[in-house]
Amino acid sequence: MKRIAINQVVKKVGKKVTVSGWVHARRDHGKLIFIDLRDRSGLLQVVFSPDQEKTHQLAGTLRSEYVIMISGVVKERPANLINPKISTGTIELSAEKLEILNPAKTPPFEIESIQEPGEEIRMKYRYLDLRRSRPKNNLVMRHKIIKFVRDYFDKLGFLEIETPILTKGTPEGAREFIVPARLWPGKFYVLPQSPQQFKQLLIVAGLEKYFQIARCFRDEDQRGDRQAEFTQIDVEMSFVNPKDIFSLVEKLMIKLVEKLYPNKKISQMPFPQLTYQESMVKYQTDKPDLRVDKNNPEELAFCWIVDIPMFENSETEKKLVAVHHPFTTPNPKDMKKYPHDPLKWRAYAYDLALNGFEIFGGSIRIHQRDIQKKVFDILGLTEEEIGRRFGHMLNAFEFGAPPHGGIAGGLDRIVAILQNEPNIREVIPFSKTGDNRDLMMEAPSLINEEQLKEAHIEIKKEDLPR
Ligand code: AMO
Repeated sequence: MKRIAINQVVKKVGKKVTVSGWVHARRDHGKLIFIDLRDRSGLLQVVFSPDQEKTHQLAGTLRSEYVIMISGVVKERPANLINPKISTGTIELSAEKLEILNPAKTPPFEIESIQEPGEEIRMKYRYLDLRRSRPKNNLVMRHKIIKFVRDYFDKLGFLEIETPILTKGTPEGAREFIVPARLWPGKFYVLPQSPQQFKQLLIVAGLEKYFQIARCFRDEDQRGDRQAEFTQIDVEMSFVNPKDIFSLVEKLMIKLVEKLYPNKKISQMPFPQLTYQESMVKYQTDKPDLRVDKNNPEELAFCWIVDIPMFENSETEKKLVAVHHPFTTPNPKDMKKYPHDPLKWRAYAYDLALNGFEIFGGSIRIHQRDIQKKVFDILGLTEEEIGRRFGHMLNAFEFGAPPHGGIAGGLDRIVAILQNEPNIREVIPFSKTGDNRDLMMEAPSLINEEQLKEAHIEIKKEDLPR
């Protein structure tokens, strides 16, 4: 008989069904053996009675996390035995046939224990951790959010276009991951911090409306809202102004919350706007938490931050760096008013803050070669560097680049906030530790001599692990 999912069993009272899954718990009550069977869709109580002698005997050998298949008849439970805590609480399965598909060792932590297992053990055994309802539910909701985002942009005529992972550096402020190029000794690919340059070039190509659920890589120190590998909702459009982008993102977030989180309340619509200056003076941060009750996760206080400065002084070197990134358009009024004081220039850049986190960041881009060149000059890049690193952008702007702009949202942050999770690690299927390790795969790891040779890499003796 074809297996059905546990959440379908309630519809089959009086019928015979086959279910498969994991032994969640076993209880022996006198001669009766009860198990809670678990699959992705839920839990089901199964009863083994001694009448079915062989099946009952086999049920006596079941342990937690065994993978089994059971056929039996669905029966209504007497009123006093209804369990309102599970969706199948009104019924149970009276087992007739049992097959053990695979036994299991005792797991290193109890799957649904009241006490949360330790962080390290959860990450090392993430495939067991994901059997727990909270992490599993986070992945289910992540899927639904991504699906919602894709449908939203698709309906508006956006194309989802993949951009390369093996590429060249892009100046977005973070340290980059590098990959040796076997066929080009001494040369390296760089993993993208974001698809920024590619999405702009797709707009130059005339594709008009681009989006991508894009994986990004930044070799930064980790924090609760930061991972080295994360996912962006990346968007770019031609012929737009900031208002178009605000309205696009606001509608996305409002509809998403209405559909998937109807219990949450958005404090203010349309979302309020603060200038960067106002936010810094009033809240001492560029990502203020505007909730009435800062501890209420059901309240969503979105807020646009606009007029972000174009440049700031680098923390480490004596030079200017772009606050957003160097492809952002400086405000032409400020350029005219303070031609020799770029620190006074505001940019057409904007962020969207939510409950104290920056969830989106974007800008109207430069599409004219001379302005782009000027920004690179202010950043202290030499002619040679500009040509070598960004020649392709400057060239592209000379072949009919339309005015354009865009934005990118931190998908992991959005899912974490909506799921009331304190750390984005909780909503990333296989995340990394604070010091960038994958405890399950044991990455990063050593590679063998042969691979090193092929990659033209020699490790200094003092760097070799002892
Ligand atoms: P930005 O660097 O502001 O802009 O990134 C956009 C959004 O991505 C999220 N984010 C992160 N999430 C998790 N871990 C990280 N390490 C991390 N870094 C950033 C944030 C942020 O708001 N190319 C531009 C976008 C554009 O101009 O269109 C960019 O990447 O939520």
